Amino acid sequence: MREIADLPAVNAWNEWDPLREMVVGSAAGAAFEPAEPGNRPQIRGRAGEPFPAGPKPAEAVARAEEELDGLAALLETQGVTVRRPEALDFSRPLRTPHFEVENQYCAVCPRDVMITLGNEIIEATMSRRARYFEYEPYRKLVYEYWEADSRVSWTVAPKPTMADGMYRRDFWEWPLQERHARMHASEFCITQKEIVFDAADMSRMGRDILVQESMTTNRAGIRWLKRTLEPKGFRVHPVHFPLDYFPSHIDCTFVPLRPGLILTNPDRPLRDDELPMFVNDGWKLIEAPEPVLSNDEMPDYCQSSKWLSMNVLSLSPDKVICEEQEKPLQDLLSSLGFEVLTVPFRNVFEYGGSLHCATWDIRRDGVREDYFPSVSYQPVG
Ligand code: ARG
Repeated sequence: MREIADLPAVNAWNEWDPLREMVVGSAAGAAFEPAEPGNRPQIRGRAGEPFPAGPKPAEAVARAEEELDGLAALLETQGVTVRRPEALDFSRPLRTPHFEVENQYCAVCPRDVMITLGNEIIEATMSRRARYFEYEPYRKLVYEYWEADSRVSWTVAPKPTMADGMYRRDFWEWPLQERHARMHASEFCITQKEIVFDAADMSRMGRDILVQESMTTNRAGIRWLKRTLEPKGFRVHPVHFPLDYFPSHIDCTFVPLRPGLILTNPDRPLRDDELPMFVNDGWKLIEAPEPVLSNDEMPDYCQSSKWLSMNVLSLSPDKVICEEQEKPLQDLLSSLGFEVLTVPFRNVFEYGGSLHCATWDIRRDGVREDYFPSVSYQPVG
């Protein structure tokens, strides 16, 4: 790959440009996610049983760490500089003026917390108590990038209180029928009172940023992103997948692979009125094949769905990394002209993510482009 000499230390405008530097998460110090108003972790298939608390067992950490190290090694063979978060102890309780929680979580999924938008790093507000301080493992790196290059900017989104009033507690008890009835209202476990978003609800496509309204991103959060990003020339598009009753993080639902091509989740179609943006500019939406594991076969403590299968990581517009056992998806991607690299990653699933979730891109070649020339966009006034 040709080195672009004068690329800022932080530079990533989309999900697919040639990758140069990446943060890969770490399971060191991880704890089980606690029950809290924004989260009801359950053991798979054993809903009534109490979910474990406190530190993850050393063997579970070691198994995940081995696969994360494997991803880091693969990236290095591809000429990518790999950085890792600081290992912290996430098993200690946390107390702020507004809430207490028995322990924190982990640094496996930097994608959820941190996002690079061009030459700017944004730290998300986060939506769950156990993840309130999850920017901490990345702060040393952020300071380093910020000190290294004066073109790098750094924005921290306003922290919500995460007090009881920020949540809709009965959300977890709604019967399925009620969820169906409310699916177009996009009301989930967080209310609209405070600005709330996780970084992983965003997807970058040059000038255009998609933001999924979800259990982890509310409309106030999207308004904050609009007002923050529009003056910098971005266009922010809220997107919805009404059949996903527990939406969180867009990268198992709607995954841009290269200009003109998006991998979609057949169980979670995009809301009808949001399709024209893609169709009008000639983008193809292509459905991911059925994952190799069923939901019942996912790891016991994993709170994500079988669609972690489609959580791929792009190295360039024609090279992508896929989980080692997801053969049907690998075949589809090869047939679309991608070179497909694979790594084992299933032991990372119980930390909530796969290859895209467990990474945060710092530098990709390329500049901001307009991939949606037909969009007519009304910035917020
Ligand atoms: N909610 C998604 C699913 O279960 C998982 C998203 C994981 N993404 C992430 N960035 N942690 O399908």
